[in-house]
Amino acid sequence: MEAKKAAAELAITEIQDGMIVGLGTGSTAYWAIQGLGARVQNGLYIQAVATSVASENLAKELGIPLIPFADISEIDVTIDGADEVDPDWHLIKGGGGALLREKIVAFSSKKLIIVVDESKVVTQLGAFPLPVEVVKFGYELTIRKLRALGCEPKVRVADNQPFVTDNGNYIIDCHFGSIPNPAELHQAINGIPGVVENGLFIGLASQVIVGYKDGSVRSL
Ligand code: A5P
Repeated sequence: MEAKKAAAELAITEIQDGMIVGLGTGSTAYWAIQGLGARVQNGLYIQAVATSVASENLAKELGIPLIPFADISEIDVTIDGADEVDPDWHLIKGGGGALLREKIVAFSSKKLIIVVDESKVVTQLGAFPLPVEVVKFGYELTIRKLRALGCEPKVRVADNQPFVTDNGNYIIDCHFGSIPNPAELHQAINGIPGVVENGLFIGLASQVIVGYKDGSVRSL
């Protein structure tokens, strides 16, 4: 917890009055939202967009003003977590099931700050199963096409039911073991009909902040 909190606390120092801020999802982004909430209560003026219903609810509880997407064209800074970060700052995201909204927000952010603890920093992506969001229709066929790309796909389950995302879709966790060419795999997966989006974030991160167990923090 200390490591995640330390990374999040450094990230929120980037947020200035008047900014439109993207709120990530997960246990590390949670600390960023908490920190921003405290700053808002002390007079910081920002407007935010959230990447999940959970983060939206947290922002509302903390009094962080939310702005509709219709009223903005870009987001100044988004702070979000990740499941893996490689040396090129390519990411696996979606462990919390919010990858689609996270990618939509990241893609329209001038700056994407990734906050992680040291366990997320890897030399090659793929030990963490890659989450892929798929529509329910024909998902059994979509899974076959994912398997043909060289992974062991598993429908994510929560409470003995398939997990359903905020967008009403399923998540297929794809166990690749290693992903030597993330950009190529990203294209191949998104080329399968039925796939809505996958958790590879290629070339989107602008900064990576890593927190360590002893509470220290480093911006890569
Ligand atoms: C949510 O869908 C994910 O992309 C999270 O950002 C990611 O799983 C990191 O989560 P933690 O910060 O909880 O490890």
